Amino acid sequence: MAHGLQIRDEESGYNKNLFCIPKHYEEDLERVFIPHGLILDRTERLARDIMQDMGSHHIVALCVLKGGYKFFADLLDHIKALNQNGDKSVLITVDFVRIKSYCDSDTEQISIVGEELSTLNGKNVLVVEDIIETGRTMKALLSKLKDNEPKMVKVVSLLVKRTDRTSGYRPDYIGFEIPDKFVVGYALDYNEYFRDLNHICILKEKAKEKYRT
Ligand code: HPA
Ligand code: MG
Repeated sequence: MAHGLQIRDEESGYNKNLFCIPKHYEEDLERVFIPHGLILDRTERLARDIMQDMGSHHIVALCVLKGGYKFFADLLDHIKALNQNGDKSVLITVDFVRIKSYCDSDTEQISIVGEELSTLNGKNVLVVEDIIETGRTMKALLSKLKDNEPKMVKVVSLLVKRTDRTSGYRPDYIGFEIPDKFVVGYALDYNEYFRDLNHICILKEKAKEKYRT
């Protein structure tokens, strides 16, 4: 089973004043939790692991928007670097989906906005996600993907939260396993804010009030 880099429950992260933070967010953040450089280093290794497993056939990389876009772009940059420096390479095409999830009589339903998923028929699909919490949204997405009979589906998630709300779902590749705290940055948002922040950070409680829609 895949394990990510474990970040312990007691981990408090780093003093934000030792990092570069956009001025407009300085008052809103408690600590830097995962610095941008560490995200990129871990992503580089995920790219290598994925290529080792999937690198023999055309890969369709499927980005789950919006939160997945930074991880997707950086992961693909690392995969491209492997492709242009190794003695083997694999063709990659990209697709994008946005997921709206809602509850219908206690079961999670999703609607997918974006690509016509029938193009995934017979393909090796790599789903790229920012964070998995309960895993219910991903389970619902996978069930819709499978209706289109792809040859193989693998899931990589930058973050997996340790929470008792989990459905038990685990992705194939994990960047970091984090405590049950709300994080933002590196395209993860709070009400659409904080996507324009490089580091993954912990919000101050009063920022949740400030940016409540
Ligand atoms: N941050 C941002 N988006 C999220 C989170 C989180 O901690 N969990 C699920 N979606
Ligand atoms: Mg997401």
